[in-house]
Amino acid sequence: MADTVKLEIGGKASEYPVLSGTVGPDVIDIRKLYGATGAFTYDPGFTSTASCQSALTYIDGDQGVLLHRGYPIDQLAEQSSFMEVSYLLLNGELPSKKELDDFTYTISRHTMLHEQLATFYRGFRRDAHPMAIMCGVVGALSAFYHDSTDINDPKQRMIASHRLIAKMPTIAAMAYKYSVGQPFLYPKNDLSYTANFLRMTFGVPAEEYEPDPVIVSAMDKIFILHADHEQNASTSTVRLAGSSGANPFACIAAGIACLWGPAHGGANEAALNMLREIGTPDRIPEYIARAKNKDDPFRLMGFGHRVYKNFDPRAKVLGKAATEVLDKLGINDPVLDTARELEQIALKDQYFIDKKLYPNVDFYSGVILSAIGFPTTMFTVLFALARTVGWVAQWNEMISDPEQKIGRPRQLYNGPAQRDYVPVSQR
Ligand code: CMC
Repeated sequence: MADTVKLEIGGKASEYPVLSGTVGPDVIDIRKLYGATGAFTYDPGFTSTASCQSALTYIDGDQGVLLHRGYPIDQLAEQSSFMEVSYLLLNGELPSKKELDDFTYTISRHTMLHEQLATFYRGFRRDAHPMAIMCGVVGALSAFYHDSTDINDPKQRMIASHRLIAKMPTIAAMAYKYSVGQPFLYPKNDLSYTANFLRMTFGVPAEEYEPDPVIVSAMDKIFILHADHEQNASTSTVRLAGSSGANPFACIAAGIACLWGPAHGGANEAALNMLREIGTPDRIPEYIARAKNKDDPFRLMGFGHRVYKNFDPRAKVLGKAATEVLDKLGINDPVLDTARELEQIALKDQYFIDKKLYPNVDFYSGVILSAIGFPTTMFTVLFALARTVGWVAQWNEMISDPEQKIGRPRQLYNGPAQRDYVPVSQR
C-alpha cells in the first residue's frame, strides 16, 4: 500500500500517513483529519478502526490464526500452562524455569482476600447472578488495596496486576460457594493455580479434595484459550476506563460488566442453553431455519465472530478437548452429539457458508464446563477469571504508551439543532 493517502473534502486536499505493523492490515493515521478538514470519521462498532498500537495478541480472522506474543494459541494450549501464558502476556517473552517458578510463587502469595470482603459477599441476595457479584467484589478491591492504585508507579501497577490475577480464582470460587450456600474455602498454595481454583470451588471443609488431573488440565486449557483476544469489547472497555486514569480494580470491574453481555462472554452460557433447548439432533433443522429467518431474532449461539471469518482456532482445540473430557469422565451427554451434528449441518449450509459463520470459542466450552460440574451461570465468570490477565496486560501496555490519551470518540449528531426553551405553560 502507498505510504500516504490523499483525501479531498470540499475541494481541500489533505494527506495522511499509512502505518504498518509487524503483520496484518496497514492503518491510515487520521489523527490530524479533524484539524485539517473539520470532518470526523464514522465507524459504529469500530469495525474499521484501530484504537491503539499493541504487541500482545494478533488475530488473522481469514486464516483462523490467533497469536499471543507471536505464539500460536494451539501450541500454547497443548504445550504450555496458564501461569506461563500469563507471564508471557505480562512480560512479552516466555519465562526461564526460574522466572516461571518466581512468578508462580508471587501469584500464589496474593491468592487470599481481605477477610472483610467475606462480609461484603453476604450483602448479596442468595440468588444473585455470580457475574453481578464479580462486578461488585472486583470493583470493591480498590477500597481494600489502596497501596497499589497509583497508576503512575510501574511497581504498584505490577502489584495490582499480580493481585488481580491471583485473587480472581478466590473471588470466583466464593461467588459460586455463596450461591450454593456452602462455606468459603481459603486458598491452598501448594496446589497449582488451576487446581487451587477447582478445590476452592468444588471442595468442602469436611473432606480432602483430590484434584483430578484430567479436569485440571482441561480447565487450564480453557483458561489459556480465554487469556487474551486483541481489542474486543471488554478489553476496549478496560482500556477506555483506564484512559481516564481510573485505578486498575475499577477498570477490570468495567471489563467484567462488558463481558457479561450475551454477544460477548455471555455467549457460552447462551450456547449451552441453546444446545439443551434443541435437545436432540432431529430438532436441529428447525433451529437452523430460525437462525436464517430475518424476522426471527434467534441466532445460533456459539457461531459467528466479528473477526474470525474462518474457524475460531480456540473452537478447534475445545472441540477436541470436549470429547477427551467427556470420555475420560465417562459422561455420555447428548448435548455433545447435538453440538457435533449442528456444527456439521451449519458448515454445509449455504447461509452459514456465505456469511462465513463458523463455531467460535463458546460453542464447545459450555459442554466441557458443564461436564466438570459448573452451573451455566458460572461460565462467564470463568471467562472473566481467565481474561483478567489479558485485561491487565493490555491496561499496563496502554498506561506505558506515550501516545495514550483519554478515549473520547466523536459522533454524528442527528438530534434537533439549537432551539429556544418554551415554558411549560406555553407548551
Ligand atoms: N446465527 C445466525 N446468523 C448470524 C449469526 C449467528 N450466530 N451471527 C451473524 N449472523 C448473521 C447476521 O444476521 C448478519 O446477517 P445480515 O448480513 O443478513 O444482516 C450477518 O451474519 C453478519 O452479522 P453481524 O451481527 O453484522 O456480525 P458481527 O461481526 O457484528 O457479529 C457476533 C459478531 C459474534 C456478535 C455474531 O456473530 C453473533 O451474534 N453470534 C452469536 C453470539 C456469539 O456466539 N458470540 C460469541 C462471540 S465469540 C466470544 C468472544 O470472543 O467474546
